[in-house]
Amino acid sequence: MPSLLILNGPNLNLLGTREPEIYGSDTLADIEALSKVRAAEHDLTVECLQSNSEGALVDAIQDAKSKHCGVVLNAGAYTHTSIALRDAIASVDLPVIELHVSNVFAREQFRHYSYISEVCIGVICGFGITGYGLAIDALAARMEAVP
Ligand code: DQA
Repeated sequence: MPSLLILNGPNLNLLGTREPEIYGSDTLADIEALSKVRAAEHDLTVECLQSNSEGALVDAIQDAKSKHCGVVLNAGAYTHTSIALRDAIASVDLPVIELHVSNVFAREQFRHYSYISEVCIGVICGFGITGYGLAIDALAARMEAVP
């Protein structure tokens, strides 16, 4: 069965307890459970990875090329800082969706710029963990349109 990578970056392991007024009370485990169920509805499987380290995220994107048909990426703060992540995404011929739990555009100015948006097929932000389901739907639709 084709598979998607659900890749979460720094501090997303703390969801549920981290700034709940911004990120809500859902946890990383909730994201992983939701992603599994939603992917199954499209006859897809998921691999879920989280790392606080930029290099591990770059490695995961590079490795995704041989294992997965698409990536949902919440790069956390590296979104706003990492040329290395951008280059990794640009280097693999895979559809990647940028995702944020919070609405980054309603927050501090430094969160308004993303190094990765230009090399992603789309961006979902502000819908809490529901966004992961939306991203999986979007990747599934794209896979049907661009087999
Ligand atoms: C985030 C938004 C980022 O600005 C922040 O650094 C995060 C989480 C989000 O999911 O809303 O760590 O990516």
